[in-house]
Amino acid sequence: MNRRILLLGPPGSGKGTIAARLETELALPHLSSGHLLRQEVEKGSPAGCRAKTFIDNGELVPDTSVLEVIEPALKGAIANGGFVLDGFPRNRTQAIDLDRWLAEHGIPLERVLLFTGPEDVLAERITGRRTCPECGRVYHGQTVPPKRAGICDLCGIPLVQREDDSEAVVHKRYEIYRRETHPLEQYYRQQDKLAMIPATLPLEGRFSAVVEELTR
Ligand code: AP5
Repeated sequence: MNRRILLLGPPGSGKGTIAARLETELALPHLSSGHLLRQEVEKGSPAGCRAKTFIDNGELVPDTSVLEVIEPALKGAIANGGFVLDGFPRNRTQAIDLDRWLAEHGIPLERVLLFTGPEDVLAERITGRRTCPECGRVYHGQTVPPKRAGICDLCGIPLVQREDDSEAVVHKRYEIYRRETHPLEQYYRQQDKLAMIPATLPLEGRFSAVVEELTR
């Protein structure tokens, strides 16, 4: 069955963490626009060069550059059983583009899960976050530690701290979330696809709440 799930929520709300669990346990491909863009930056591709300054400053990458990266990934995921989208769409234009693209392929979004929680708690999590530069999996020194300190469980390579996780840039990312992305809550509520999940739940409880929503 082709699943089309969207995870929505502010920085640090655990979209990447839950998407990785859904990939491992329900075999649903995780598509993270942030990870895809960071990979392009790493490769030094034209799309990556265009995106770098925006990412470093905590601003949204222009819609056309994001589409260039996300569209081939969406096509690949659909051929492999569907997707859990994380980080895209980020504004109304992207949401309309996504709806249009999925409608053309006859596969509308199924469910949108919105993770919510107080910004100060979520921002605190970002400070302790470490990411695998290869697969994009995220960990946290205290709450979601890797099996071996500082090493990715899957790739066996050293974890890194994201460059856009500095305090000033995180502050900017929240501002942009409130202005550009938060209005999507209403957009998907009108489509009757929205479910709210508290981001502050411990990881296991939150994952169970997500699975329950997806099996309703
Ligand atoms: P992106 O990579 O999408 O970042 P984000 O949305 O800011 O989200 P984060 O990755 O910070 O947080 P998350 O919700 O995934 O939380 P996580 O699971 O890591 O975007 C980065 C940049 O790319 C953007 O600023 C923009 O420039 C660009 N970009 C991306 N998409 C774009 C688009 N569509 N359009 C334009 N530009 C775009 O969890 C956080 C931490 O908490 C981790 O350490 C984790 O281990 C820990 N944790 C998770 N769950 C729990 C729990 N229940 N209890 C305790 N700790 C937990």
